[in-house]
Amino acid sequence: MPTIVPKTTPSKAHTELPSIPLCIPEIRGNEKEYVTSCIETGWVSSVGTFVDKFEQQFADYLGAKHAIAMSSGTAALHIGLQLIGIQPNDEVLVSSLTFIATANAIRYMNAWPVFVDAESTYWQMDPQKLEDFIKKECVYRNGKLVNRTSQRRVGAILPVHILGHPCNLDEIRDIAERYNLPLIEDAAEALGTKYLNKLVGNDSELACFSFNGNKIMTTGGGGMLVTNNDHIAEKSRYYSTQAKDDPVEYIHEEVGYNYRLNNLQAALGYAQLEQLPDFITTKRQIAKTYTEAFGEIPGLSSHPEAIWAYHTHWLYTFLIDERLFGCDSRTLLRHLSNANIQTRPLWQPMHLSPAHKKCQSYYCEISEDLYKKALSLPCSVGLCKADQNRVIDTVLSIAQNKGLECSKV
Ligand SMILES: Cc1ncc(COP(=O)(O)O)c(C=O)c1O
Repeated sequence: MPTIVPKTTPSKAHTELPSIPLCIPEIRGNEKEYVTSCIETGWVSSVGTFVDKFEQQFADYLGAKHAIAMSSGTAALHIGLQLIGIQPNDEVLVSSLTFIATANAIRYMNAWPVFVDAESTYWQMDPQKLEDFIKKECVYRNGKLVNRTSQRRVGAILPVHILGHPCNLDEIRDIAERYNLPLIEDAAEALGTKYLNKLVGNDSELACFSFNGNKIMTTGGGGMLVTNNDHIAEKSRYYSTQAKDDPVEYIHEEVGYNYRLNNLQAALGYAQLEQLPDFITTKRQIAKTYTEAFGEIPGLSSHPEAIWAYHTHWLYTFLIDERLFGCDSRTLLRHLSNANIQTRPLWQPMHLSPAHKKCQSYYCEISEDLYKKALSLPCSVGLCKADQNRVIDTVLSIAQNKGLECSKV
């Protein structure tokens, strides 16, 4: 994901403070031992025991039938969309409030995203607006759901579990079933997240995860496609390894991709996954400390956890109400940047993205509001107490100065 570089120059005093990054990898387990064993044995490429072990360990962790390692979360989404039957010129109903990779993967299929708004409480895809769109904007034609405006077939629903909190999966699944639409979950940010006590991806037809460097665990770069469907599992291995039908004669019946994770990356992932429960406990503790510290500050509200959810707080994010707090989220970002503290707004909602300006959207005003108000604070697993206190103290001092100081940056 892109890092925002604020347009201010830190003052001399501030540059002397060590920087506190937003979210960096934590490498403190068996990573070195496992990666070294790949190097010593020469198994550094796209096959090897760590790929098999990592896939098995991941499937076991989730309680899912199959996990297929991919070179990125985006690759997993691309293959996943192909396997649920998305055709060129189809449409996919997808969260507007997401990182651009979700929408891009739809375009790789020459299909079209239709952006659905977030709900205002937990910031996930709004099931009500999703159904409204289908009821009011679509018709059935020859057994297919068709968008009246574009005349294109609606081929799938793609909710994104953002920031470590789940979408309301039952409501979205119910809509998918009633309108006979396949569901593919973007769980890139939701490893370890639970919906109604079940890990996201546990009973999915198809869910995709990311191990990008800023995620809760990393393989340097990588992803996983998770499914309980044997056919999807078999085909995703096939398409992600160049659709090879005869490995001796190099016969390929179809166009495939070079999307497999290599053994070195899988070795990293295997070691990281061993530590995941600890990582999640730490993330939740960091979030709790921030939430308690900011509880009394007018105009700051932390991302809440639904009663039906288990939030990993992959990123710790709060909303800033400019009127009550005294300055807006971007001014706070610049203040914290001047204190060498890295923060980040949410992504520009996809319906506003120039890259996707030709796509339709459905009343995405909540996503816009969240985009304006949200800021994520440093929350690496390795964030030490002293650094977290420095972040808290800096935010508190800005809050005390209200708009007076804020207006100066
Ligand atoms: C919501 C979401 N979807 C998809 C991706 C893409 O994953 P990757 O960077 O592994 O391709 C990411 C993260 O980068 C993400 O945050």
